[in-house]
Amino acid sequence: VANGLAPTPPMGWNSWNKFACKVDEATIRVTADAIASNGMKAAGYSYVVIDDCWHGTRDANGFITEDKARFPSGMKALSDYVHAKGLKFGIYSDAGTKTCGGRPGSQGHEYQDALQYARWGVDYLKYDWCSTGVRNAEEAYALMADALRASGRDILFSICEWGNSRPWLWASKIGNMWRTTGDITDKWTGHHGYSWGVASIADMNEPLWPYAGPGHWNDPDMLEVGNGGMTDIEYRAHFALWAMMAAPLIAGNDVVHMDQPTRAILLNADVIAVDQDAAGVQGHRVWKDGDREVWSKPMADGGRAILLFNRGETPATIAADWTMLGLPASVRMQVCDLWMQKDVGRHTNRYAAQVAPHGVVMLRLKH
Ligand code: GLA
Repeated sequence: VANGLAPTPPMGWNSWNKFACKVDEATIRVTADAIASNGMKAAGYSYVVIDDCWHGTRDANGFITEDKARFPSGMKALSDYVHAKGLKFGIYSDAGTKTCGGRPGSQGHEYQDALQYARWGVDYLKYDWCSTGVRNAEEAYALMADALRASGRDILFSICEWGNSRPWLWASKIGNMWRTTGDITDKWTGHHGYSWGVASIADMNEPLWPYAGPGHWNDPDMLEVGNGGMTDIEYRAHFALWAMMAAPLIAGNDVVHMDQPTRAILLNADVIAVDQDAAGVQGHRVWKDGDREVWSKPMADGGRAILLFNRGETPATIAADWTMLGLPASVRMQVCDLWMQKDVGRHTNRYAAQVAPHGVVMLRLKH
């Protein structure tokens, strides 16, 4: 997009996956405090985003206000607080008459809402698709993108249309990221009501790799790491898959009360570096045999990030052959295991490892 934002996939935190509609200013403040001091900010997490349910009513002139019971100090004060921590401030609205949580949507108020967000110091807008009736998605999102531009403030635009009208075909000129699927849930796989487990979301997002690039990213939804519904092995696979897919890394857990394994996943600098690589190429699957898969992401340094992924229920040996990766078999590559955080030597031809059920081995290959 012409706004110049998100040269690498956006990183931050969003209230929805953990707090849903139970969000208030106290939660946002303690979350911003935690991100600023627990290593997340230093690791690159910069946007603190309030999802649905912050809204009050429109005032007599039609301007949106915050829910005064939950945000008694007001949005401007909260935004100032987040900015004072060296972080960026994000908010949520909807292209229809109502948000998914039943709050006022932006339809018919696009320019006024964008102006209000700019006055509040908003840096990021997630824009949802509930109660949109017969609206055309491309038009509706282009209208809000224009309103954000007209506000005079740099506001990252996150399109949340669930992939219904194939936004990867039209959204790269409009937004910085677009959801490619329905909602994520804190489960390994499958379809649960309106939402999907992480392995299923990865399958839907993977084939869209040619549409991603600097400034415009496929968004397979926010992270569930640390929310308690999966094992740490599954959470490592989730985070690794998102990094391989150059996905926005938007934490969705309670970062004030995280356990050590969760922290080690979200703060793994080598895995984050794969996601944030300057080449901005979305990795994809290069080999599959039943439950065993190899994924590859070309890196700016000419090397590769590699995922050996075992979807099955028993341990499996999985090998990445250099030829699968577009490398000559004879070339000697230095191999690092990013979860073991260990250099595992120089190799020609291939590298094989045992992978736990629902697990990954994530590698970085360098010349
Ligand atoms: C939709 C979105 C979610 C979340 C909720 C809020 O379901 O896809 O990410 O924003 O609405 O109500």
